[in-house]
Amino acid sequence: MENLRFIHMSDLHYRKNYAAHGFEALIAAKQHPQDNVIKCLRKEKSEGLDFVLITGDLTHEGEAEDYIALHKLLKAELGEIPFILLPGNHDRRDAYIAAFGQDTTVESADSVFDIKGLKIITLDTGRTINGEITESQTEWLSEVLKQPSERGYLLALHHPLIDNQDGLPPALHPDSFTELIKSSDILGIFCGHTHHNYIAQFAGKPYFTADSMAFSMVSTEEMLTFKDCAAYTVMELSDRILSAGVRQVVPAVADIASFSSDKLSQLFSE
Ligand SMILES: [Fe+2]
Repeated sequence: MENLRFIHMSDLHYRKNYAAHGFEALIAAKQHPQDNVIKCLRKEKSEGLDFVLITGDLTHEGEAEDYIALHKLLKAELGEIPFILLPGNHDRRDAYIAAFGQDTTVESADSVFDIKGLKIITLDTGRTINGEITESQTEWLSEVLKQPSERGYLLALHHPLIDNQDGLPPALHPDSFTELIKSSDILGIFCGHTHHNYIAQFAGKPYFTADSMAFSMVSTEEMLTFKDCAAYTVMELSDRILSAGVRQVVPAVADIASFSSDKLSQLFSE
């Protein structure tokens, strides 16, 4: 079975234009998140991509025009490569559905996508600031997981599920949700919201939190520090094993030198 290669990115906090004051001015202080997204997609597309997964906070309290602009940007950069996304706590559902509705399978953000035999399930946890998975979403998920899937399932949501991840509470969820995940054929869980990458397990399944494509924050009791940092994760699925590689866009890791393979053997023989 061929390997699948995809990108997991999160928390773009995109706006076409940011306000020159307050929180929005901080987001765009160094580099527009759009530049980070373009840089990432151009690089990774050239290495082959089966799809792109974006786990919420697509915009920062964006208006319809922001979602339309983001949709246009993704289409222009990705062409025929599919993208799968879901909203976060900073997204407005009506504006999101208006721009991306034609790319979702149902009129909500709880959806199922099939890419080359792999089923990707998106759950909308982002209606409240700390996130919530309801009983009825759990029932819906349980029905989805009964459908056969050739390559298994991935589950994507905005909020973390692990307690105290970067000092944040997990999305509220019923015990039946954890039990359902434990007994499922889910190969990996993907989320964002914390703006810090984190790899662990939830209910015995591999669990990946992506960095933000806009900025990073470090909070202590006295201070909240914004960091000019943007990164995403390159994922590879080989049979039923997921491997992850975190790639930084900002600060970019500088190249010292690059060599073609014939020059490289020459270098080591010198
Ligand atoms: Fe968030």
